[in-house]
Amino acid sequence: MSAAIMRTLHPITLAEALKVRREKLARLVDFPIALWSGRSSARNFPANTYPFRASSHFLYFAGLPLENAAICLEQGKLTLFMDDASAASALWHGELPTRNAIAQQIGADAAYPLAQLQAMVKDCATVLVQDSASCHWQSQVLNRAIASADGAKGNDLALIHAIATLRMTHDAAAIAELRHAADVSIQAQQAGMAATRTAKTEAEVRAAIEQVMMANNMTTAYTSIVTVHGEVLHNNQYHHELQLGDLLLVDAGTETTSGWAADITRTWAVSGKFSPTQRAIYDIVLLAHDLCIATIKPGVEYQEIHLTAARMIAEGLVDLGILRGNPTDLVEMDAHALFFPHGIGHLLGLDVHDMEDFGDLAGYAPGRQRSDRFGLGYLRLNRPLQTGMLVTIEPGFYQVPAILNDRARREKYGDVVNWDRLAEFSDVRGIRIEDDVLITATGTEVLTAALPTRIEAIEQLISGN
Ligand code: GLY
Ligand code: MN
Ligand code: MN
Repeated sequence: MSAAIMRTLHPITLAEALKVRREKLARLVDFPIALWSGRSSARNFPANTYPFRASSHFLYFAGLPLENAAICLEQGKLTLFMDDASAASALWHGELPTRNAIAQQIGADAAYPLAQLQAMVKDCATVLVQDSASCHWQSQVLNRAIASADGAKGNDLALIHAIATLRMTHDAAAIAELRHAADVSIQAQQAGMAATRTAKTEAEVRAAIEQVMMANNMTTAYTSIVTVHGEVLHNNQYHHELQLGDLLLVDAGTETTSGWAADITRTWAVSGKFSPTQRAIYDIVLLAHDLCIATIKPGVEYQEIHLTAARMIAEGLVDLGILRGNPTDLVEMDAHALFFPHGIGHLLGLDVHDMEDFGDLAGYAPGRQRSDRFGLGYLRLNRPLQTGMLVTIEPGFYQVPAILNDRARREKYGDVVNWDRLAEFSDVRGIRIEDDVLITATGTEVLTAALPTRIEAIEQLISGN
């Protein structure tokens, strides 16, 4: 961690926020806990590493992206374990903050070198860090195997539940960071829109977007999707040339230096003008997006929001003559999923799909399980919404060849799709509109609302007029 990172966070606010989080955790569990930040992984040889990303659970309680560190939490007290940088390290990495300086910044009650870790955390519960080198380190120190959430037992499982409860809703310090991530991501998306005027390839638009993140000393929260093939849901290729009739789907969000994420998608016309067919489908997706957000308030079931989007999309496609039948019946038979195969969104926080390292344990309320229905199986969140949660709302329309050309699906849905009419919309391969929605006591605050969604406003941003 560099001195620059330390300056971005106000030490008093940070230490206070972390103390409150620890105290809340102490009210949920009565056993000691050890959390690891993780280690960087070698890319091709040991000194050339992938960028380090600290474990989100560590970040939640330690606040800083410390590398090679661990914390012990017990009855609201924080003990930090990390080594001071060696003289040799200073040659390559410069002067780094000392253990004691960091301990003070995060409000630690005590701080020790890593050599003391094993003796002091041996009976602690923990959660698994994602990279294998760090998992190995955890196992060695605790002298036991550590399972991921689906196999966790005893205190490890109780800890997972407690952390999921705490991280499910965001405190003021987290919301300040999430707002910052949203604001920079909005600027980044706007830079992508402006760059489309002259860009020849997806890669050039991506560069304009990520330039804004980098200039803010931030990084992407996930690999950006910048594609004229939006029907490939997680498309991470950027080599296509931009053609005037294309739609460009941009799903790009940044994360702050302490790890809090934004997740935004906009879809725009490369030429700056949507075609009538693109406009017709875009407006269906936008209507679904707007209605979903208008429906959100504490207590509403997220699955109902998903089904609202599904019905709106089915209704819009019936109106366009692409689907035939009654929208409610079409959703019951999952016909909407031919064109909207994913869920309406997910939790957002320190991870872009927050706490998915816990499988569905955070996303699904106790006793609920993933549906095996085509139209519900990819729903990542199935809980009543609570004040302080941050969720994405991201309806879409896609023409995915693997779905639409699948023989069994073509047979099952042959009568409800007007394939000739659908062929008239061949210039609409993928559209998604995604915003980050904070649930408030009375309804919602859309953290990403300053980035327009209406076609006219987007066309203006693209053309610059
Ligand atoms: N950016 C990934 C997603 O929207 O879920
Ligand atoms: Mn998302
Ligand atoms: Mn996204």
